[in-house]
Amino acid sequence: MTITTQALFETEAAVARNGVGKPGLLHPVRVTGLGVAVPPARLTNADLEQMVDTSDEWIVTRTGIRERRIAAPEVATSDLALAAARAAIADAGIPVSEIDLLIVATITPDHLFPATACLVQAGLGLPGIPAFDLSAGCSGLAYALDQAWHGLAAGAYRNALVIGADTLSRIVDFSDRRTAVLFGDGAAALVLHRGEPGEDAGILASHLGADGRGGSLLILPAGGSRKPASHATVAAREHFLRMNGQEVFKFAVRILEESTRQVLAKAGYSPADLDLFVPHQANIRIIEAARERLGLPPERVVVNVDRFGNTSAASIGLALAEARERGRLRPGALVALTGFGTGLTWGSILLRWTKTENDGGQK
Ligand code: ACO
Repeated sequence: MTITTQALFETEAAVARNGVGKPGLLHPVRVTGLGVAVPPARLTNADLEQMVDTSDEWIVTRTGIRERRIAAPEVATSDLALAAARAAIADAGIPVSEIDLLIVATITPDHLFPATACLVQAGLGLPGIPAFDLSAGCSGLAYALDQAWHGLAAGAYRNALVIGADTLSRIVDFSDRRTAVLFGDGAAALVLHRGEPGEDAGILASHLGADGRGGSLLILPAGGSRKPASHATVAAREHFLRMNGQEVFKFAVRILEESTRQVLAKAGYSPADLDLFVPHQANIRIIEAARERLGLPPERVVVNVDRFGNTSAASIGLALAEARERGRLRPGALVALTGFGTGLTWGSILLRWTKTENDGGQK
């Protein structure tokens, strides 16, 4: 596997600009484990036709979604996160005890507190290591990967477990056709490993951003300190997410292109260099529009929104894992993961795929 000196230089410069250590002390960081967990139950468009005034034709044409997975009532976000975590650690081939940092990106934590990451930590039997949740909506996994990457690159940790997990079905109003058809449940986990200086780098660059002025475009109105749960909030259905779909759509198309271009430029690349684009899976029309703007052929873009819908923080990880299962992640491939979501937030991670064990041939 080769990586250009220019790319390394740009990456080191970017990390240095972000205030993490000196370039000379930078450790390369790569993905060594990947695992997912999705509930077995499928909610199809035909099922939704029985629940709200919608049609399979409308949903497929406007969103590309055909079915999504829904967690059983007794299953919470931490359960999916834990299952994905175990799969990722097994995939990395290391003992659980080697993990020394745990981040869970989620907007549907089991509780407001304690953090879902602490519940996962207890489930793994890993007391002592730092564990925290990160709230950045569907950009959550990119944000968490960025944070873990910087911690590892600076030498503070050796193996980080980064999880994106959400059970959005718990905050979707299944009587509102505008949102009921869009979301599903799932979890994806990655193990990041700190290598020694001089070794090949996996993660090359990141690009994160937020614009809080768009906070009301996608919001869970009640249940926090602004509007605690009350009879009135329940009666007003304010414990279900609200979204201005059209505005989020416009933002999404623009930012998917822009953030992807930015992360590529940070490492000295352009869209034509990308082997695989793994965008947040919210709507096939958003993905298609971004793909065209980036000038990428369809075979370089991962799409699984048809089978999982929008799984929020899990989305990019689920898509990456599926690409690997299907043998689309050859060693050395240049891969961009790009998310956007509530906040508004956006985030991209650029990496060279370095893992080879368990890659491809599983399906
Ligand atoms: N079935 C049938 N008709 C519907 C449905 C439905 N499920 N939903 C909406 N409609 C109707 C509307 O009522 C409207 O009817 P009207 O013209 O009579 O008023 C018509 O369809 C068109 O509605 P629009 O909202 O204009 O439809 P649009 O083409 O914009 O598609 C959608 C809506 C799918 C929500 C789209 O705007 C979208 O995907 N937006 C982005 C959403 C997104 O990415 N969210 C994730 C953010 S990530 C995170 O952090 C969780």
